[in-house]
Amino acid sequence: MASAQLLALILALLLIIIHLLTKDRKQNKRLPPGSMGIPIIGQSLSLLRAMRTNTGERWIKDRINKYGPISKLSLFGGPTVFLTGPAANKFIFSSDSLTLKQPQSITRIIGSQNMMELIGADHKRVRGAVSYFLKPEILRKYVGKLDEEIRQHFRTNWFSHQQVKVSPSMKRLTFNVICSTIFGIKQGTTREALVNEFNNMLAGMWAVPINLPFTHFHNSLKAREKVGKILNRIIEEKRSALQRGECSSEDEDLITYLLSLGTDKGETLTEEEILDNAVLLMIAGHDTTAIVLTFIVRQLANDPIIYASVVNEQEEIANTKAPGEALTWDDLLKMKYTWRVAQEILRTIPPLFGGFRRVIKDVEFGGYLIPKGWQVFWNTSVTHMDESIFKESEKFDPSRFEKQSEIPPYCFIAFGAGPRICPGYEFAKTETLVAVHYMVTRFKWSLCCKDDTFVRDPMPSPKQGLPVLIEVKASL
Ligand code: HEM
Repeated sequence: MASAQLLALILALLLIIIHLLTKDRKQNKRLPPGSMGIPIIGQSLSLLRAMRTNTGERWIKDRINKYGPISKLSLFGGPTVFLTGPAANKFIFSSDSLTLKQPQSITRIIGSQNMMELIGADHKRVRGAVSYFLKPEILRKYVGKLDEEIRQHFRTNWFSHQQVKVSPSMKRLTFNVICSTIFGIKQGTTREALVNEFNNMLAGMWAVPINLPFTHFHNSLKAREKVGKILNRIIEEKRSALQRGECSSEDEDLITYLLSLGTDKGETLTEEEILDNAVLLMIAGHDTTAIVLTFIVRQLANDPIIYASVVNEQEEIANTKAPGEALTWDDLLKMKYTWRVAQEILRTIPPLFGGFRRVIKDVEFGGYLIPKGWQVFWNTSVTHMDESIFKESEKFDPSRFEKQSEIPPYCFIAFGAGPRICPGYEFAKTETLVAVHYMVTRFKWSLCCKDDTFVRDPMPSPKQGLPVLIEVKASL
């Protein structure tokens, strides 16, 4: 009896082992090809190094040549599946098995209630409130404010200068525009304090998240505390003004609008949500557009034919204006060619290299298993440089965007796609068009350095900051 029981037990154990072994083999077989690299470090360092030396695209291409469009690797401490191509983009941007994932350092600096960290109903509520203020219906009301801020920037920083470093100048311009139009922070000491702390905060965003007194990450967190204090003071001032009836919600700025949202429809935002999303908008909305503007300046300096077409379009609009008269929404609607040039910049030098999603339940794609807990990595340039989508993809050709409907879905992904698509698209477009208008109608420029190459840090930035020699054409 005892030996029969023992035999049954051994048999059961054998069956369990066989089941586990075949299950494991089945799963392994379905995982995408690719090596996970050195434990913990994985391939992060080699990707970061490639981006810094502007060979990131090469790194990605080599990987695809070796393993195909779906492969596994280890990035930033986590097992990762790298996916490319329009079908993969559709899956990444719309599958409910995936959720947005930011590196830990970024989440801690921006704040846990920023919309990129929120999911489901919370994401919908916060994104709905914030993006309402960035829609054309509202945006068209503050074109005048934006115009004045941009003109002021060029008056102060370009007009009486012979040489300008375009990259830092554009970063300051886009920061000022966000401050005045979205947050109602006027020029002066508060804005200056904010920009200083803000730059300190950005310096450690991509640092290793070790919070010790001498680390970049620690300094960033300290600067974030100060940014939080300044913004909280501004929030309190706006709340008091609203209570005293001195301003009316959406005609003012985003913060006043968010504070005025009614509790009755359950749309209200908490203090922390308002603060964290204010920090997010400042980060998401400033470097990205500054990069597009910087590379437009570089392109126009290097390409006389495209330059002439942009100048032509903008001069026609300038000729309809009285001195000092601001641009209007209708003027922006006429800037079709200029926006195509900006889109071609976004295609060839996308500000965002790519991004991550977290896998929240086991999912299959292209016949492979992507296990729960892994991350998915997407890349912009692979799609943008795909010859089957954009012919002669290396060629700078704004006419590709003449017929938007001919570009298949999930193929132009500079602003992402799906429920997380960039809510700042129209804002970025408006700001870019107004800035290009004043640059080409008031100035001429030429590049100071022969070497106008750029690195990714992780966003594209010209090696020398793109210094240009300026000639004034007309007053502002
Ligand atoms: C040329 C300029 C810009 C580019 C190329 C750009 C690109 C992107 C991309 C690719 C995403 C999606 C990321 C993902 O799905 O992983 C995104 C999200 C986002 N962008 Fe932009 N962006 C730009 C300008 C702006 C501006 C001006 C603002 C605000 C004023 C803004 C605010 C945001 C926010 C809040 C999100 C997160 C959306 C969410 O999680 O629901 N962006 N952006």
